Amino acid sequence: MSGGEGETLRNFLPETARGRLQSARLADGIASLVFDVSGLNAGARDSLEADAKAAVAKAPGVAEVRVAMTADRVRRRILAVGSGKGGVGKSTLSANLAVALARMGRKVGLVDADIYGPSQPRLLHAEGVKPVARGEKLVPIQTDFGLPMLSMGQLIEPGKAIAWRGPMVSGALGQLIDAEWGDTELLVVDLPPGTGDIQLTMLQKHKPAGAVIVSTPQDLALIDATRAMQLFELGGVPIVGLVENMAGYTCPHCGGTSDPFGSGGAEAEARDKGVAFLGRIPLDIAIRTRSDAGDPPAAGDGPQAEAFATVARAVADWLDRN
Ligand SMILES: Nc1ncnc2c1ncn2[C@@H]1O[C@H](COP(=O)(O)OP(=O)(O)OP(=O)(O)O)[C@@H](O)[C@H]1O
Ligand SMILES: [Mg+2]
Repeated sequence: MSGGEGETLRNFLPETARGRLQSARLADGIASLVFDVSGLNAGARDSLEADAKAAVAKAPGVAEVRVAMTADRVRRRILAVGSGKGGVGKSTLSANLAVALARMGRKVGLVDADIYGPSQPRLLHAEGVKPVARGEKLVPIQTDFGLPMLSMGQLIEPGKAIAWRGPMVSGALGQLIDAEWGDTELLVVDLPPGTGDIQLTMLQKHKPAGAVIVSTPQDLALIDATRAMQLFELGGVPIVGLVENMAGYTCPHCGGTSDPFGSGGAEAEARDKGVAFLGRIPLDIAIRTRSDAGDPPAAGDGPQAEAFATVARAVADWLDRN
């Protein structure tokens, strides 16, 4: 703070603005204020600026108020969720992993990058909710689960076939990732299956901090999961680990678990391939019915929530170490 005048200006500010003030000076009737706006979204920044201007304009000798804001210093990282083939539960895992991380107090957001079959609006009970744009940027919608979200499904007309070429696909992905995420520190990105434009754009333009690979017990025996891992490794993205989905079968009647596809192999396979095993999500009808109803199991109680929480803890540990 520069001398007595700076202190005087500071005293005119509302309490909340005072805590964020980095410097204040007055020269030739012009008050110049610098605020640290880390973690504030665009709306909060706008009101901070307006409040500060209105308050400091009343200070003696002030003819004009200029406000500068320091760059948002949130270190935001991307966690990609991928798989070798479709239908193994990437979207289910992405939604529930993000919900479980949010429940642990992490500042997490979800990006649904699946241009061909966006499913997050349904999984997170937000069908038909459209994001607004502020300036050039989209503002993520708030879901019921403490989790902001943006989906390709919000950019395209439901039910319309899309024939986007590479640049349009990569532009759309950019809009979702470079949105107004505010203080969100981690973006979980639900990828479409395969190795198309979205995956390439992801690797080239928005390099993920790590990738979680989802696999069913059968794929592990095949080579699909390995192929997915190779894609990320080629792009220099570390593999956080492997999640085995639809492992064992939980009987809705007796609650007992059986293993139609065999059991225990996944963990050993992961070790063989030198990747961490993050956990096992049972094949459970409740996971499908609750997902379809927009009621993510990770937001509730019981064994399904616990299975997703186990994966979330492993992912959070990895993020804290890397
Ligand atoms: N552990 C599970 N138990 C029961 N059903 C599940 C489980 N995981 C996923 N499902 C169901 O399997 C179907 C496919 O899951 P999901 O959409 O998450 O897969 P995906 O890998 O994202 O598919 P795509 O490749 O098409 O994007 C959904 O109907 C989902 O509810
Ligand atoms: Mg999906």
